[in-house]
Amino acid sequence: MSEMALLPHSKVCVQRRPDMISHELICTARALFADDKGLLAMDESNPTCNKRFAALGIPQTVEARRAYRELIVTTPSLGDCISGVILYDETIHQLKDDGTPFVKVITDAGIIPGIKVDTGAMNMAGYPGEKITEGLDGLRDRLKEYFEMGARFAKWRAVIAIGDGIPSQGCIEANAQALARYAALCQEAGLVPVVEPEVLMEGEHTLGRCCEVTEKVLRTVFDRLYKQRVMLEGMILKPNMVLPGLACPKQETVDEVADATVQCLLRAVPAAVPAIAFLSGGQSGELASARLNAMNARFKLRLPWALAFSFARAIQQPALEIWRGEKANLLPAQRALYHRARCNRAARRGAYDAAMETNGSECNSSGGLPAKSCVSTV
Ligand code: 13P
Repeated sequence: MSEMALLPHSKVCVQRRPDMISHELICTARALFADDKGLLAMDESNPTCNKRFAALGIPQTVEARRAYRELIVTTPSLGDCISGVILYDETIHQLKDDGTPFVKVITDAGIIPGIKVDTGAMNMAGYPGEKITEGLDGLRDRLKEYFEMGARFAKWRAVIAIGDGIPSQGCIEANAQALARYAALCQEAGLVPVVEPEVLMEGEHTLGRCCEVTEKVLRTVFDRLYKQRVMLEGMILKPNMVLPGLACPKQETVDEVADATVQCLLRAVPAAVPAIAFLSGGQSGELASARLNAMNARFKLRLPWALAFSFARAIQQPALEIWRGEKANLLPAQRALYHRARCNRAARRGAYDAAMETNGSECNSSGGLPAKSCVSTV
């Protein structure tokens, strides 16, 4: 936790926006990373969710998406490990089978609802092979509406690809500018912005190249956040881990990834930011937990910010593969979801061990919902 974040609220410089809003933003940001919990991203757009369903033979319908999201938000004890969930526009409007709004189910579980507010990454005109994230038009009104529905934080994802001659300066700057405009609008509306500049894993690039690009992107993003007067104490950074490309012949060890990621972040992320919550980006659940764990085990006491998680696939994928659209698979799927959330909470403490995967599946196959013994050992 940064020293700044530990100052009483009244001592944080808040002259640029009303004290009440600044206070609420700081409280929400702190609550999202209290007790070693983290975020669960369940904000896949309909096309992305449908693609994941199609791969498993699940019908790509509104009802299947609703049933799957109900499975997630009704997972017993989820709030032990998850402080906030990121929803998609369709999901935030949906209800449980019994008519209870998802937002109520989530808040009753002690979890803070969040919302993805970008409208997706599109081809960037004049920049072949690169993307620009859209969604600023009408954003102020949408944020107001989401706040009234109960959301207290938001997310915007920018996508940066590494390849021959890319990323370009133009693409990095355009995405950083959009992230900063989004973040400023969120804070005006009382929503904590989760700022997500994702450097993609796809490609043959080395870990060194990913480190260089990630540092450049983060420096540009923080420059734009500063220019747009975003209060750093009231935001969360959601970056990629520093990783070799998926097709790179050299794949560094867990500890080497942890070292490179922390070094890169220390160079580029101001200490006033309260928390950094990684995306998983297509890593397996086990690897994402192991890498986050190594960062906390090796560096936690020396870092100015909390290192946490905001995973989608690395928490959800095993549960989705078990569920496959079948009601009969609901409980085992929920246990698998809870297990990954629990492993990641342990990783925040530097207390994750690969043995948890077998222990976890033992207690997860007990037939009941998260066994008491699993809950209490986290
Ligand atoms: P993954 O953890 O699957 O990368 O998703 C995180 C996310 O929110 C993507 O925007």
